Amino acid sequence: MNNDIERVLYSEKDIAEAAKRVGSQLAADYEGRTPVILSVLKGAVLWTVDVMRYMQYAEVEFIDVSSYHGGIASAGEVDLVVDLQTDIAGRDIIIMEDIVDTGRSLQFMKDLLEARGAKSVKVASLLDKKDGRVVEAHVDYVGFDVPKAFVVGYGLDYKQLYRNLPYVGVLKPSVYDPEHAGLVDTTDITPEH
Ligand code: PRP
Ligand code: MN
Ligand code: MG
Repeated sequence: MNNDIERVLYSEKDIAEAAKRVGSQLAADYEGRTPVILSVLKGAVLWTVDVMRYMQYAEVEFIDVSSYHGGIASAGEVDLVVDLQTDIAGRDIIIMEDIVDTGRSLQFMKDLLEARGAKSVKVASLLDKKDGRVVEAHVDYVGFDVPKAFVVGYGLDYKQLYRNLPYVGVLKPSVYDPEHAGLVDTTDITPEH
């Protein structure tokens, strides 16, 4: 296990089972149609490729939006960083997320897709952190309901790291709170005496 992980919440096997369950359900629900899977960069990439293996006919597109988590001045604002590359008017869209937290990213994307004439928009997320909601956001296909914790792995990052881990785990507080471990980097601190 990676040294920065305190404990594993969802193992590789747990996730494989969730991907199979959600992918098979999507295959059944979209039978006879060709939906557009809209994978949200970067976090949803692993979940997307694992879930889509269980579907019959599907296109895949990517979008990148960024929300300012607990941000300072612009909290609540969502930016479109990379737009999708196809006209989705009249199409059935499945948004693939790794986690829905405040719901802001999802609300932004749903509004965008509906404004562009999507026929239907559903959401499949590996994790649903319902306690984190600030705006209303519903996840139609849920891998796991996740409690409030600092989770990383299987797409989820902390400072762009840990996305490659095959499991979802809780990050050791010492990693994001250096004081906690007495590991304060003093190189930039001018001594007071
Ligand atoms: C994270 C996560 C979701 C979104 C959820 O992405 O992957 O896309 O935030 O948060 P919300 O419900 O509070 O909007 P992030 O913007 O960190 O980008 P990333 O996927 O590249 O890590
Ligand atoms: Mn994301
Ligand atoms: Mg992130």
